[in-house]
Amino acid sequence: MDKRLAIVAALAALLAAGPALAQIAAYEIVEGAIPQPLTDSPGNPARGRQIVRDLDKATCLICHPMPIPEEPNHGQIGPSLTGVGARYTPGELRLRLVDPKALNPDTVMPSYHRGEDLYRVLDRFENKPIYSAQEVEDVVAYLASLDRQ
Ligand code: HEC
Repeated sequence: MDKRLAIVAALAALLAAGPALAQIAAYEIVEGAIPQPLTDSPGNPARGRQIVRDLDKATCLICHPMPIPEEPNHGQIGPSLTGVGARYTPGELRLRLVDPKALNPDTVMPSYHRGEDLYRVLDRFENKPIYSAQEVEDVVAYLASLDRQ
């Protein structure tokens, strides 16, 4: 589907879903990225580093090795995120968090800021994004700071 059509369809689905999905920020995908931040207040990398370790928020460490040495167990399903800030722009990182399925429909990585199409989620996550818009911005700021190999 054409990217713009996909966005219009996503927005229409959001509107139809009503208040349950009101917590999902509107965003536009442009050339493999979400260039515009989801919130007005800039992300905080230190907060982002805490958020990615949160077991209640589908911690990235289940799947990714990360430069967080105080956590002993890092999964290997995804690529290492060391140096990821040098490989991607903040907009590319934002899309990979918000909706990785837009890039790879078969990925096992969860969409952290989508309410629809989630499956096998705990009840308390149903129709709620895993990360709020501000948490997305904090995690993007943290990932962008990982600019060394
Ligand atoms: C269930 C496993 C899983 C979880 C949890 C997960 N990811 Fe991923 N992630 C993957 C896989 C697998 C890939 C490889 C690309 C693909 O599948 O499309 C990936 C790719 C990525 C990429 C692109 C990396 C590259 O070098 O190309 C980034 C950035 C990323 N993930 C960040 C995160 C962050 C940040 C979190 C936590 C907020 C997270 N992921 C949680 C599985 C996961």
